[in-house]
Amino acid sequence: MTLIDGKAVSEKLRGELKADVAAFIEKTGIKPGLAVVLVGDDPASKVYVRNKRRGCRECGMYSEVIELPADTTQAALLQLILDLNTRTDIHGILVQEPTPRQIDNTAVINAIDPRKDVDAFHPMNVGRIMTGNFDFLPCTPAGVMELLDAYNIPIAGKECVVVGRSNIVGKPQAMLLLHRHGTVTICHSKTVGLAEVTRRADILVAAVGKPGLITGDMVKEGAAVIDVGMNRIIGNDGREHLTGDVDFESVSQKAAYLTPVPGGVGPMTITMLLRNTLTAAKKSL
Ligand code: GUN
Repeated sequence: MTLIDGKAVSEKLRGELKADVAAFIEKTGIKPGLAVVLVGDDPASKVYVRNKRRGCRECGMYSEVIELPADTTQAALLQLILDLNTRTDIHGILVQEPTPRQIDNTAVINAIDPRKDVDAFHPMNVGRIMTGNFDFLPCTPAGVMELLDAYNIPIAGKECVVVGRSNIVGKPQAMLLLHRHGTVTICHSKTVGLAEVTRRADILVAAVGKPGLITGDMVKEGAAVIDVGMNRIIGNDGREHLTGDVDFESVSQKAAYLTPVPGGVGPMTITMLLRNTLTAAKKSL
């Protein structure tokens, strides 16, 4: 079994991206800029936001983190987005989810200029992903595709099963695999006979948020298994651990390729966000 090293692939891509950013700045005098908006103080979100800021800095991009209190009104957040939409030094805008209850995420996403929507959550970008005519790819599914390519895992004609149908991962993931000529099935909580479906998969992507859902008996011998799960659980040592949707022990006995958690898909997501930010800066010309 080959362990897919998301950290190594991510580092290589970030090295290339850093060179691309430097070349872009040299040519245009424009430094790509990302605004990350964090409403409230969810501890996991704070870590993600910090990593996004660090990623920008490392790749030579500008970043601005705007931290707003948990009781920020919808109107205030929308006004902030409108301001960011008009700023010429900001090319990408991201509102970290989850947001507090009073915030309507759909309205927030709809307010972001689609040209600055580096999450690719705006309906215009979602539609463009559907047709294959896109500028931005959603970060996590794009990271999964990069991992498959980095390990030369063929997609065309293969049985691809995506477990999970979220707008952020499952649905766009299925679409990206389809664009690459995979035969794609989407499973979810109402799927009857989940194991029978997952056992068909040459490529199995788990993105549901249920620790250990995918066990060895659900996996075909020689499959590539991609674990998108990011579950925080309290371990036997009483401390918080990050664990995936895949039962690593049993699945590693069957799979030919497997992503660990942490160190698989996770590191790729921010790299794809940084790439989208450079793309947005290029498109702004
Ligand atoms: N929260 C968890 N993942 C993401 C993501 O990809 N984008 C945003 N905006 N928030 C998130």
